[in-house]
Amino acid sequence: MDLLKQKITDEGIVLSDQVLKVDSFLNHQMDPVLMMEIGKEFARLFAEEGVTRILTIESSGIAPAIMAGLVMHVPMIFARKQKSLTLRDDIFVEKVFSFTKKETNEITVSKKYMKPGDRVLIIDDFLAHGEAAFGLAKIVEQAGASVAGIGIVIEKSFQQGADKLKEAGYRVESLARVASLENGTVRFAE
Ligand code: G4P
Repeated sequence: MDLLKQKITDEGIVLSDQVLKVDSFLNHQMDPVLMMEIGKEFARLFAEEGVTRILTIESSGIAPAIMAGLVMHVPMIFARKQKSLTLRDDIFVEKVFSFTKKETNEITVSKKYMKPGDRVLIIDDFLAHGEAAFGLAKIVEQAGASVAGIGIVIEKSFQQGADKLKEAGYRVESLARVASLENGTVRFAE
């Protein structure tokens, strides 16, 4: 997606060989016009998948996911990173380890909003090692629903997440694929 790649080139800050900061349009301030274009692109890519719900994880996945839901006319659910006491008896739970943050979170989704037979499109802002996406996919499967695909805004292709998800049989579509952040420069995959 050229608009997104241009934004990354113009505003992304390479913090290290591993981490790209995009606080000006995705992770802190958010660009609604860009988010809408991202939503349209996910809707186009997954138009034939029979999507009935979109699932993301708080917080930065919410903006691209709600825009995709708006275009596709389906509800969007965000997994919470901490158990809510009021939902306790009626939640799906998975553990997600973050390599970037070196911590494990429990992610939760209410059983009310994920049903057998649902076709669920998973959306997230970054794909690194794939832990969050695998956790979300496991929640979909716990519910007896199926994963329609995984839509990612920025994939770091030099980390293992995309390959592992594809090996596990999921369709992964990333709107920008970063091949390397070496020497302080963003290099995109072809
Ligand atoms: P993984 O799920 O693919 O294995 O990724 P990982 O655990 O490494 O990522 C943990 C958090 O760090 C996630 O955000 C993810 O979006 C973010 N992240 C990973 N790599 C980068 C990067 O290069 N740049 C930026 N800006 N973020 C990165 P989170 O903790 O869920 O935070 P948020 O959604 O509340 O923003």
